[in-house]
Amino acid sequence: MNAASAESRTKPYTGYVYAGLVLAVGCWFYLHVTSARDLPMAAYEREVAAQNAHDSILARRSVPVDEAALTALALDPRAVAAGREAFRANCVPCHGAEGEGAPVGPNLTDEYWLHGGGAERVYRSVNDGFIVRGMPAWGPTLGARRIQTLTAYLLTIRNRRVAGGRSPQGTRESGP
Ligand code: HEC
Repeated sequence: MNAASAESRTKPYTGYVYAGLVLAVGCWFYLHVTSARDLPMAAYEREVAAQNAHDSILARRSVPVDEAALTALALDPRAVAAGREAFRANCVPCHGAEGEGAPVGPNLTDEYWLHGGGAERVYRSVNDGFIVRGMPAWGPTLGARRIQTLTAYLLTIRNRRVAGGRSPQGTRESGP
């Protein structure tokens, strides 16, 4: 066996070795130098931060809601109009254009409530949602002020029994 034939036998492997080296250096550069992707520890820290933010949202939910203030807001036409606008923008697909209910969400214009029709209960339903039952938590997305005006609007449409509304669900809370 001469030197030339030995070299030609090793050649196919050296290609892989170089390719492996290039790949290793490339990965090292990509992860450690460019920081294009999180390293495992940074990814873990990001997850923890996201979880903490979520927990603080949950903690904020337990802030007491003022029943009297919400009831007064329902008498303020500007607040009610703002609430109607927010309702039109966010709630119609599941609760119908007038809150009369749709295949997904219950009728909000009758006197029957799954989670309570009092000002504070309505505020909490909208703010916290019932995620496993298909009702999103709107507090984190819309903010406290919009949840208040939405509640004010809902207080003006309850017990109205909009025509063609979805059949009642839950407990009767008022009416003849
Ligand atoms: C993706 C569909 C969906 C959207 C959008 C939605 N809801 Fe709901 N909502 C539901 C469902 C489903 C329920 C019933 C939850 C249950 O069965 O416990 C519900 C329940 C409620 C209740 C409680 C009703 C009761 O009988 O106690 C209120 C109040 C309410 N939604 C208000 C709103 C408002 C205000 C918006 C817009 C900001 C909104 N929802 C948007 C699906 C939705």
